[in-house]
Amino acid sequence: MCNFWRLVLLATLSAGAEAASIHKRSCSQSSTPTTPAPVPTIGPGADDNGGNSATSYQLNETWIGDKFYEGFTFYNGSSPTQGRVNYVDKDTALASNLSFTSSDAFVLAVDSVTTLDPSSTVGRNSTRIEGVHNYTTHAAVLDVRHMPEGMATWPAYWMMGGKWPEGGEFDIIEGVNDSPPNAMSLHTAVNSSCLLSNDTDSSLMKGTPDQKQCAWTIDNTGCGFKDTNSHSFGPAFNERGGGWYATERTPSSLKVWFWSRNDPKVPQDVREDSGTVSPSTWGLPTASFTSSSISCDISENFQPHRFIINIELCVSLTSMQAGAVFPGGPDACVKHVNENPDAFKDAYWDIARLSVYK
Ligand SMILES: *[C@@H]1O[C@H](CO)[C@@H](O)[C@H](O)[C@H]1NC(C)=O
Ligand SMILES: *[C@@H]1O[C@H](CO)[C@@H](O)[C@H](O)[C@H]1NC(C)=O
Ligand SMILES: *[C@@H]1O[C@H](CO)[C@@H](O)[C@H](O)[C@H]1NC(C)=O
Ligand SMILES: *[C@@H]1O[C@H](CO)[C@@H](O)[C@H](O)[C@H]1NC(C)=O
Ligand SMILES: *[C@@H]1O[C@H](CO)[C@@H](O)[C@H](O)[C@H]1NC(C)=O
Ligand SMILES: *[C@@H]1O[C@H](CO)[C@@H](O)[C@H](O)[C@H]1NC(C)=O
Ligand SMILES: *[C@@H]1O[C@H](CO)[C@@H](O)[C@H](O)[C@H]1NC(C)=O
Repeated sequence: MCNFWRLVLLATLSAGAEAASIHKRSCSQSSTPTTPAPVPTIGPGADDNGGNSATSYQLNETWIGDKFYEGFTFYNGSSPTQGRVNYVDKDTALASNLSFTSSDAFVLAVDSVTTLDPSSTVGRNSTRIEGVHNYTTHAAVLDVRHMPEGMATWPAYWMMGGKWPEGGEFDIIEGVNDSPPNAMSLHTAVNSSCLLSNDTDSSLMKGTPDQKQCAWTIDNTGCGFKDTNSHSFGPAFNERGGGWYATERTPSSLKVWFWSRNDPKVPQDVREDSGTVSPSTWGLPTASFTSSSISCDISENFQPHRFIINIELCVSLTSMQAGAVFPGGPDACVKHVNENPDAFKDAYWDIARLSVYK
């Protein structure tokens, strides 16, 4: 076992055998043994934080290990985005080990043993969970050790609710084919007037603006920001033991923060669940959708949202999707998925915790 994970496992004596085994799988890629002992620091004040108030939020729910099965349901059926997956129900996921837990780990995976029949319309078994609660104003912290990696993968941690796309969609972790950085985007109703400003104020966020149009169309990746930190997604994220994704939604803003596992600046209330979080002390967000960066009213365009965590494969509706940018194109992506189960051994989420605060 590599030093990094030995330290983590010693530090978290409760880690179960299953989690340990998952950790081992990423060890060969972990080249820098480091001690995860970040010194908590307080970020810039509220004035530097995109006009945040000094609001703090109280814990609503923390999902850890098999608690996830109480707060989330498995989406069952073919991919709503036409990917080469078959999302399985909870019983199938547990029976085929596409989901399992330990006292401090919740895992979601893709079938990495079966060769698919190319003539079948049924894709590779995969997992997609959706939260049972809906949230408007809230803050959330996702502590992730490992995100799905491998060519053809399109993992996402995101939120939506109500009629789609009118209810809005908030994509927090998203990317394809192992290519960093992370993309954070919004999708809004077809005829919505939501546009990302052409001159977003770079002093209000760390990310760089990407697509401008938020209104949904079949070939639009949504409006949003890309992280400038290459450790925010894919193998580079996993090699460092993952990190924390935090979000805050208010009636007038949607924000995302990211800290890699060894970032000394991770705030104490993000690193440890103490029952209260204060996003106004977290420093500059990575992505900040506020009245100074988008042209529409958040509360009108975003209904109450649930959390979704999934592992999609291929898809080529937009340039964002794994099939479209797969070497050789969409058909080569599907062929890769059909013929190479081994290529999906690292296509799993290992989540330490999701905490939601209201
Ligand atoms: C599920 O997979 C994990 C990781 O490979 C392994 O540690 C565990 O033993 C497996 N569980 C079962 C029931 O096969
Ligand atoms: C958490 O928030 C949800 C959605 O607002 C609510 O339904 C649920 O009862 C809350 N849970 C607790 C433990 O307060
Ligand atoms: C999931 O879908 C399969 C195939 O349609 C069906 O047989 C199964 O009963 C469904 N599971 C649940 C929990 O609805
Ligand atoms: C894939 O999932 C289906 C249920 O949707 C199940 O019947 C089938 O056995 C699974 N295949 C494998 C290889 O686990
Ligand atoms: C959450 O919102 C969905 C619509 O997006 C609705 O179907 C569901 O009943 C809501 N859940 C709760 C617990 O209110
Ligand atoms: C969007 O606007 C166009 C033009 O006014 C209209 O034809 C179309 O039905 C609208 N679409 C939706 C989904 O509201
Ligand atoms: C950004 O610039 C383009 C091209 O000049 C323009 O069409 C668009 O309306 C501008 N967007 C905003 C939000 O001002």
